[in-house]
Amino acid sequence: MQIFETRDDLQKTLATCRQSGQHIGLVPTMGNLHEGHLALVDAARKQSQYVLSTIFVNPLQFGPGEDLDNYPKTLESDYELLASRHCDGVFVPSVSEMYPNGINNQTLVSVPTLSRHHCGLSRPGHFEGVCTIVSKLFNLTMPDMAFFGEKDYQQLQIIKKMTTDLCIPVKVVGVPTQRTESGLAMSSRNNYLEDRQVSIAANLQRSLKMTMEKLKQGETNFSALELDAGEFLTTAGLKVDYFNISHAVTLEPAGARDSNLVILAAVFLGKTRLIDNIRVQL
Ligand code: PAF
Repeated sequence: MQIFETRDDLQKTLATCRQSGQHIGLVPTMGNLHEGHLALVDAARKQSQYVLSTIFVNPLQFGPGEDLDNYPKTLESDYELLASRHCDGVFVPSVSEMYPNGINNQTLVSVPTLSRHHCGLSRPGHFEGVCTIVSKLFNLTMPDMAFFGEKDYQQLQIIKKMTTDLCIPVKVVGVPTQRTESGLAMSSRNNYLEDRQVSIAANLQRSLKMTMEKLKQGETNFSALELDAGEFLTTAGLKVDYFNISHAVTLEPAGARDSNLVILAAVFLGKTRLIDNIRVQL
């Protein structure tokens, strides 16, 4: 597996790939890789000749007081995992390589409509940071396809809209969430959890499934369902950031006539913030 630290080196190799007709599949990550990321690599492997992953803990998408400084860094094992899934190359730029003009002097990309609820409300500026780095990575690497996890449902919808709205010729592909046996969505932030917290965290997916069942049984009082789920989560020992029944495309609060839904939730367990979602088709 090739390791690139500079944009120049990366772009020279990718130009050669493109000249020889290879399709490039991009898997952007922040490292500390787990099966969730590796499922993205597997999906890219099936659909592209050159699979490129990126590992970059993007300071622009972290707010004050968030876990930027403590974000887990496991570069050597990340390389091993990527190589074991036949990734062809990995780009590991420094902050100055990605933001040569400084982070406070960076043109920003935003998708305001889809960013105004859910994580966008709790983490102001987060999705601008995500959109900015993803569009930079798209422009640097010009992949044919790019792969993102469905666990970050709002992020995936925002990246899809950004790509369409800005006419970026990249096909954005969502890959299903990988889960532990208890149902907990795989996330690098699960590493922050103590053993006893792991089983508590599994209640997040339980609450989503329970609410989905009630919706499927014909319950239409969405606010009451959200409150019930909130109570369930609080009783289980989780602090609710949000639990929202939303339209799956607009991400706006769902109305009684909507049938294409997503339930999006974020909770705190101690200092650890966990997110998850479930699609519901009525
Ligand atoms: O989902 C992530 O890991 C990050 O938000 C991403 C897409 C790699 C951008 O930094």
